[in-house]
Amino acid sequence: MKEAIDQIFKELGELKATTEKEAEEARIRFLGKKGEVTALMEQFRTVAPELKREYGQKLNELKKAANAKIEELKSAVEQAAVQYGPKEDLSMPGDSMPLGSRHPVSIVRQQIVDIFRKFGYDVAEGPEIEDDYHVFEALNFPPNHPAREMQDTFFVSSGHLNPLLLRTHTSSVQVRTMEKQPLPIRVVCPGRVFRNEAISARAHCIFHQVEGLYIDKDVTFADLKQAILLFAREMFGPETEIRMRPSYFPFTEPSAEVDVSCNICHGKGCNICKGTGWLEIMGCGMVDPNVLKASGIDPAQYSGFAFGMGVERIAMLKWQVNDLRHYFENDMRFLQEFATATEV
Ligand code: PHE
Repeated sequence: MKEAIDQIFKELGELKATTEKEAEEARIRFLGKKGEVTALMEQFRTVAPELKREYGQKLNELKKAANAKIEELKSAVEQAAVQYGPKEDLSMPGDSMPLGSRHPVSIVRQQIVDIFRKFGYDVAEGPEIEDDYHVFEALNFPPNHPAREMQDTFFVSSGHLNPLLLRTHTSSVQVRTMEKQPLPIRVVCPGRVFRNEAISARAHCIFHQVEGLYIDKDVTFADLKQAILLFAREMFGPETEIRMRPSYFPFTEPSAEVDVSCNICHGKGCNICKGTGWLEIMGCGMVDPNVLKASGIDPAQYSGFAFGMGVERIAMLKWQVNDLRHYFENDMRFLQEFATATEV
């Protein structure tokens, strides 16, 4: 045992390490569970009782010396790292990270919002989980209106007077705006909406809308028409024409659906516009007096218009994508097509 102790003393004296890893290996070699010093400590049990005192002392010294040496090596390595910098090759090229780009739906939503911002509209947002009051009741939906039925609406809770649900349109944000903002109001409400519909090339249960609301004194249908025409020309090009067809929404009267002249065939008829020369882009109308009243606005003094469009629909028309589902599948090949499409 004496020789073994001396031998280890000698080896400790010669021990060197230039990296943290080597210092750690040295620690394991001498002081680890199966290390040389540890092994000697275990052997100590078998030492004859009369020698125990002498060897006990020696072994303790050895252990102390080993600990001190390893500490010394570790701090020397650390110091060197501070002094000379890390050992990595800093000139090595980095890992390339794939660069993401904005989603086409986000690009178009932003374009729509930017156009209305130029016209002086603010942006308003509201909750996706809404109550029946803000999605339906305040918007003049009669109690048994078909749109309230389960087939259209995802209910979060039911059974009481004002159930929670996933908003089916962002008109709810317009109601919230009318409730809290002073008049006049000019806002667009972009956001995600939910409808319990079968998923197909033309419909999805989740999609995005931008709706707009303008309330002031003496707002007329002519103002609505002008706003929509300017928007359509900004979005689809300066030659674009619009036409309005009578329609019905509980919250507007009169109501209309808006078509833009087909930007592919310019009215001649093609398979995108199904030969008609027109593409439907949104619903709109003059805010129903009942809606103004419900939010505490006097319809005798104020009037307004509202409109709402589907962002995916506008994107499909703009980029001639014939299947809405592409926008939700996150296929990189599809998304990359839009990596540089930021201009209107
Ligand atoms: N809220 C209607 C929809 O989701 C769109 C719309 C908004 C129509 C405003 C008219 C006026 O379909």
